[in-house]
Amino acid sequence: MRVFVSLFVFVSFRILSTESGTAHRAEVVYEWVSLDYDWPTTRMKSDYISSGKFVKENNIITGVKVYKGEVYVSVPRMREGVPSSLNKVVLKKGKPVLQPFPDWKSQTIGDCNSLQFVQSMEVDPNRGWMWILDIGRLNILPGVTPRNLCPAKLLVYDINRRMYVRRYEFPATVVSPTTNFLNDIVVDIMNGKPRFAYITDTSFEDPGLVIYNFQNNTSHRFRHKTMGLDPEAVNVTINNVTYPMPGTIDGIALSSDSNHVYFCSLAGYNLFQVPTEIVRYPNADFAAAVRNVGKKVSQADGLAYGQKNLYFGALDRNAVYKWQIDADAKAQHGYANVQMKTQTPVISDNARMEWVDTFAFDEHGYLWFTTNFIPKYLYQVMDFSDSNKSANMRVWKVNIGEKGYLDHSDNVDPPVVG
Ligand SMILES: *[C@@H]1O[C@H](CO)[C@@H](O)[C@H](O)[C@H]1NC(C)=O
Ligand SMILES: *[C@@H]1O[C@H](CO)[C@@H](O)[C@H](O)[C@H]1NC(C)=O
Ligand SMILES: *[C@@H]1O[C@H](CO)[C@@H](O)[C@H](O)[C@H]1NC(C)=O
Ligand SMILES: *[C@@H]1O[C@H](CO)[C@@H](O)[C@H](O)[C@H]1NC(C)=O
Ligand SMILES: *[C@@H]1O[C@H](CO)[C@@H](O)[C@H](O)[C@H]1NC(C)=O
Repeated sequence: MRVFVSLFVFVSFRILSTESGTAHRAEVVYEWVSLDYDWPTTRMKSDYISSGKFVKENNIITGVKVYKGEVYVSVPRMREGVPSSLNKVVLKKGKPVLQPFPDWKSQTIGDCNSLQFVQSMEVDPNRGWMWILDIGRLNILPGVTPRNLCPAKLLVYDINRRMYVRRYEFPATVVSPTTNFLNDIVVDIMNGKPRFAYITDTSFEDPGLVIYNFQNNTSHRFRHKTMGLDPEAVNVTINNVTYPMPGTIDGIALSSDSNHVYFCSLAGYNLFQVPTEIVRYPNADFAAAVRNVGKKVSQADGLAYGQKNLYFGALDRNAVYKWQIDADAKAQHGYANVQMKTQTPVISDNARMEWVDTFAFDEHGYLWFTTNFIPKYLYQVMDFSDSNKSANMRVWKVNIGEKGYLDHSDNVDPPVVG
């Protein structure tokens, strides 16, 4: 997400619809008022605090992924004082703290071999490879001068073998080292082989859809007006408070058959679809291929495709919704022309489920997600001080009875196009 410099928050008189009677029950796996880390020594922690390398008010979780029972979360370096941008949750004295992942050394600011700013990652559950997006820039919120330290990069880390298996720096012509905000990623596995990654660049100046070809080790970018913001959707109202959240292309999902990519802008209701067999190729006619599949009930941040349903956060309802896309496609003669008819609530909680941010799947049929009330963080009105108050950030899971789009991936290779 990206916000204007105007830090104006106002109360509107919109009446919230109340969603009840949802069939699912969600459980909080972890929650925090403020984050803390797994420090090797107490000395290190006090050094980090006194030198400004750890400012707890600037640390908030966004991304989440789950693999073999471990939970990984990202802490984007939107402001100074984030010690570690990619982490695993571990329990210390019964409390969940963040352990830098893969290690502390990988979190070194200014070292372009290290992680600078991680917002999102994806895990291929079949081989345990984590695809990590690093935007290479720090402090990208309005009102402060960003630190453009490194080119944006994509790293692939083998969790089981504990080693990097791919490192790719995006050329400046594809991802700008001074304006990018690589926000979210899905990966395309065909015949068990990683082939493509589809990535949203929530740049305010130059929004784009970035495609990385794993086999050829190349990347390209599409720009189109569907990736911009909708002026009618720039404000998100949460529990009667309205926050301007003018973000461009943000959420992204890949269908479980690998045939279509879905994306939406944060400031937007429309959901768009584009065939992967088009966008995999650099000179494709994107404008001719992209299709509006309908309006979501609310603005959304992350999207996620299970096997048959597409999940999204309904931000103005403090809820998770699903589009029963498989059912709609069956009733409407296939995916190529499908329109969004069946939007149903999965789970909601006005007090605790504010800002459904990012989704993940595990191998047991649970949908995991983070909530973080990020508008309060962005507008600096989040209360991190009272450790006894209700949590600001949570990791949830809810049984949806289906696995993620990457499970049982056995799709055919794409045709070779000239
Ligand atoms: C992929 O491209 C990157 C350029 O960022 C290069 O450093 C790397 O060696 C290449 N990897 C392979 C496997 O070709
Ligand atoms: C969004 O909120 C701003 C106030 O920050 C207001 O000026 C603007 O008219 C609102 N836009 C819409 C579409 O509601
Ligand atoms: C929001 O405003 C409406 C109308 O003023 C009120 O009925 C409702 O209780 C408010 N909800 C919250 C969560 O404050
Ligand atoms: C990958 O590289 C091969 C060989 O250069 C080329 O024929 C093919 O079109 C490339 N694939 C894509 C999707 O660009
Ligand atoms: C924490 O909050 C609970 C519920 O509001 C209250 O009962 C309890 O006394 C508080 N504990 C402290 C240490 O303030």
